[in-house]
Amino acid sequence: MSQNQNQSQNQGRSAGLEGPGAVRPEVAGARSATGVTISGLHKSFGDNEVLKGIDMSVAPGEVVCLIGASGSGKSTLLRCVNRLENPDAGTITVGEHEATHPDVNLDAMRRQIGMVFQQFNLFPHLSVLENCTITPRRVLRQSTAEAEAEALAQLDTVGLKHLADRRPDQLSGGQQQRVAIARALTMKPQLMLFDEPTSALDPETVGDVLASMRKLAQAGMTMLVVTHEMGFAREVADRVVFMDQGLVVEEGPAAELIGDPQQPRTQDFLRRVLHPLGE
Ligand SMILES: Nc1ncnc2c1ncn2[C@@H]1O[C@H](COP(=O)(O)OP(=O)(O)O)[C@@H](O)[C@H]1O
Ligand SMILES: [Mg+2]
Repeated sequence: MSQNQNQSQNQGRSAGLEGPGAVRPEVAGARSATGVTISGLHKSFGDNEVLKGIDMSVAPGEVVCLIGASGSGKSTLLRCVNRLENPDAGTITVGEHEATHPDVNLDAMRRQIGMVFQQFNLFPHLSVLENCTITPRRVLRQSTAEAEAEALAQLDTVGLKHLADRRPDQLSGGQQQRVAIARALTMKPQLMLFDEPTSALDPETVGDVLASMRKLAQAGMTMLVVTHEMGFAREVADRVVFMDQGLVVEEGPAAELIGDPQQPRTQDFLRRVLHPLGE
């Protein structure tokens, strides 16, 4: 798909970031046509029921931020979407794949999904470029030249092309996380799952990671993002979902949910996140 198509289909995204008709940043990859639908999702570990009937969706090209206290089940939910966990009940569809169907082609489904974790898990003995080419070469059977061209394009997207020859330990945490994002993008995913991608980073490197994620959002990627970065959620997310104790308590447009939450539990959580000293 051309950038022009991307631009016209993305009008209206992220109000306040840019005016109508603003030039979209160059991001390798096209607007995603894949969404996620979750209904009646239950998951227990032993007698600990972690997900108690979750219904939520992410439309193609939509950015949804998932917020909630530690232990509320956010990571488990994300892991169920690409079947790193097996749900006990409920259905999940990712584009044309029914993740919860017994006959689902997990390899094909997972190829559509990029996941970025708190810990970036780069191979320490490989260069940045090699970290980004190894999977496309092995799984997509790309030639070295093809994989390197794609990897450099994605590294350029996250502003790190000039560090392609470095080893991960020569990079800051934020730079390593941007490499992890570029690495995920080289597989040409239709859906990106982020699980607290900036929680382990030094504060001064968080901004560049969020900026890379914003760029991806503006390019039209479908994104489900677990984060405590309320500024990012307010600015970039189309919707915010608040989870507590395994249930969706409240969801809505980002500005409304963060600015004017209706449920007492949402109000309490946001008060603690936005005003930790009680001011
Ligand atoms: N693999 C697991 N085995 C047993 N318990 C787990 C496992 N993964 C998560 N849990 C439990 O599930 C609950 C929710 O965890 P999690 O999904 O990580 O929440 P969050 O990401 O919102 O902090 C916690 O009580 C956690 O201890
Ligand atoms: Mg978690």
